[in-house]
Parts: sequence; C-alpha cells; structure tokens
Amino acid sequence: MSAEKRDHWQSRLGFILATAGAAIGLGNIWRFPIVATQNGGGTFVVVYILLVLLVGVPAVMAEVALGRHCQRNCLGVFRMLTPCSKWPLVGALGVATSFLILSYYSVIAGWATGYVFLAASGRLASLGSESLARTFQALAAEPATAISFHLAFMAMTVAVVILGVARGLERWNRILMPGLFLILLVLLVRVWTLPGAAAGVAWFLRPDWSHLGPGTVLKALGQLFFSLSLGMGALITYGSYRGRNSDIPSTSGWVVAADTMVALLAGLTIVPALFAFGLPMEAGPSLTFVAIPAVFNALPAGGLFGTIFFVMLVIAALTSSISMLEVVVAALAEERRMPRRAAAVLAGTAAFLLGIPSALSQGPWNDMRLAGMPLLAAADFLASNILLPLGGLLTAVYVGWVWGARSAADEILQGADRFPLGRLWPAAIRYLVPAAIAVVMVTGLLPGRG
Ligand code: TRP
Repeated sequence: MSAEKRDHWQSRLGFILATAGAAIGLGNIWRFPIVATQNGGGTFVVVYILLVLLVGVPAVMAEVALGRHCQRNCLGVFRMLTPCSKWPLVGALGVATSFLILSYYSVIAGWATGYVFLAASGRLASLGSESLARTFQALAAEPATAISFHLAFMAMTVAVVILGVARGLERWNRILMPGLFLILLVLLVRVWTLPGAAAGVAWFLRPDWSHLGPGTVLKALGQLFFSLSLGMGALITYGSYRGRNSDIPSTSGWVVAADTMVALLAGLTIVPALFAFGLPMEAGPSLTFVAIPAVFNALPAGGLFGTIFFVMLVIAALTSSISMLEVVVAALAEERRMPRRAAAVLAGTAAFLLGIPSALSQGPWNDMRLAGMPLLAAADFLASNILLPLGGLLTAVYVGWVWGARSAADEILQGADRFPLGRLWPAAIRYLVPAAIAVVMVTGLLPGRG
C-alpha cells in the first residue's frame, strides 16, 4: 500500500489522544494497582517510574519511528527493511502476543461492562465492602454472565475496527481522556479525606527496599510494557498512520506522561481506599471492582458518578482493545490481502474463543492451574512478563543494530521541533534498553516462579 493512500491521523492531537487511548486502559486502572499492591507499594512505584524513563521513553520512540518510516504494519516493517531474513518473525510474535492479550483483556473489560449496568441500576449503592466483593464474584464467576459480557465487549471492538482508523479511533478519545482524568481526580480527593486513607498514601509512595527483588523488577517491567502497549507492534502500527512531519519526541513524551499519570492517579485512589475501607490488599482481579464502588458509595450521587466512571472505563478499554485487534487486522489485511472487515471478524471471533478459558477461570475452572496460576493470570504472566519484554528486546536490537540507530535517530529528528537528550538516544536504544530488559528478564525468570 502506498504512503499516499494510507489512512492517516487527522492531527497531531488526534495521534496523541489515540495513542494515549491505546496506552491508557485497564492496564492503568485495573492492572497497575493490583501489581503494585502485590509487589510492595512504594518500592514498586519507584522502580516502575525509573524503568519508564530509562526503557519506556526510548523504546516508544523507536517503535513509532519504525512504523512511521516504513508506513507498514508490524510485520511489513521487517519485511520491507530486511526481506529474506528471519526478522519478520518478530512481527509475527507481536501479532500473536496482541492476539493473546486481546483474548483475556476482553474478559476483564466485560466485567467493566457489567459494572456499567450494576452501577446504573443502583444495585451497588449502599453495599458494604463484603457485599461488594460478593457482587463481583457473582458477575465474574457466573459463566453465562461473564461470557456474555466478554462477547459483547469483543463485538464492540470488532465494530470499531471495521469503521477504520481515523474515523473509528480518533473520535472516541477527545472527550474520554480528559473525562476519565477528571473523575479519577474527584475520587482521589474524596478518598484522601477519609479517615485511614493517609496510611495508604504513605504505603503507596514510601519505598521499603526490603521488598526489592528480581521478581519485583520483572513485574514492574511487565507492567511497563503492558501499560505503554510496547513490544508487540501496536506502536509500530500506530506510528505507520502518521505523516512524515509529525513530531515524534514530543508526542511520545506526552503519551508516556499521560499514561504514567493515570496509573499513579488510579493507584493513589485505590490503595488509600483499601486502607480506609479495610479491604484486603491481596484481592487480585477484583481489587478495582470492589474498591472503586466503595468510594462511590461514599460520595453524594455516587450511583450516577459510578455509572459515568464505568462507561468511561469501558471506552478506555475499548480504545486499547481496538489497538490490539488493529495490529492483527493490519497484518492480515496488508500481508495476506484479506479484506479488513473479514480480518476483523475472523480475528475477533478467534480471540473471543481463546478468552473463554480465562473467563471460566474466575468461576467453574477456578482450580485449574497453569504454571501454578489461574488461567487468566497465567495468560497475563506469559504475555506481559515474557512475550512483551521479549518483543521489546528484539525490536530495540533491530532498531539499534539492524535498521541502525543513526537512521532511526534521523527519522525521529525529521519533523521534530526538539529532541531532548537526542544524542543519548542511539546509545540508549543500542545498549541500555536491550541490556536492561535482558537482565530483568533473566534474573526475574530464573528462580522459576511467578
Ligand atoms: N496499554 C493498554 C492498557 O494499559 C493495553 C494495551 C493496548 C496493550 N494495546 C496493547 C498492551 C498492546 C500490550 C500490548 O490497558
């Protein structure tokens, strides 16, 4: 497909919002607080922020530059720059990883969809924390309910992808991002004024280095890749929908900053809520779904706010899930010449089916374990802590050494007003990023536990 014909983002803000939309999702509001509470709070937060700066920012720029340079999907870039090599397998790995994440992401987003109805019907109002936990169980553990919402969410994802890039994606993010941010801010203020919340804030911000171990760092790295949508071609694909004159350093910076801020905001709301309401820290997948309604119940007009919040969460999840489906669809459409519509329906249906075991793992298949974890957690561990960092490592090596850090830096400079620390970027992508990922993965996975 020629660059001229390629569907492009209509504006710089459109790209920032769409890319931030792909980045901001359940990873920030659902996954970040869970991983942070399981890994020592403040320690995790500090490690996370360090990794964002050292690994996240250079890697995001590398992926966007690669996509923009080639104007291709995540398989096409490798085929174009290095035909007749094994590198396109990295693109294929990305497609497979996206597909795997989409399968269980839609299950969790399905719960969020269910919560829209629960909140709107007033059934969450005035429930205590124990009843709220039971309400979550009833939704997630009931196979028919969980699978129906999973199906509904996947169908919405397919529908949006079929509508096309600029039209389909750009529109959603303009109202959504600021809205989500605002509502989180309201929640944060409410929680912080509750008795007992201060201890939670302190726990979330104060590092306790005795928690620091290879496992914690691996979890932080996995969270980073998941949250920034790195390591599986989403940013390559999104970058490919950009014109040559777009500003890569500043848009990448904005996307990373917005994503990290929303995650911190969610953590700083949910963790203090756990302290204030005496909720268990180890709640796992139910954490957000119990803590957030508890805060709404402490607000006037909580039912209304809660409904708006869950609608926004579903749309935030949708702008992320479409990025995953888009990776698969762009690859099928451009590399296999499949019509987009057929590719979207096919990939969406397959991901729905693959997600069913994850959905059942909260209910009837509760006792089934893969590598010692429930199925959903196992799929997430494989994707976030192994496949994404591996994809990110290979992409960094590719950009730094095969395409070449110099050519990549030239691509980034093109259209950029400023490229802060630009002189350090080639060294970062050649040495720092691959070495950091490799060390974290090897040390984190060696003990062989999750
Ligand atoms: N980053 C998104 C979130 O935080 C999820 C997501 C979208 C994603 N696209 C991805 C994760 C690609 C990994 C890879 O919810």
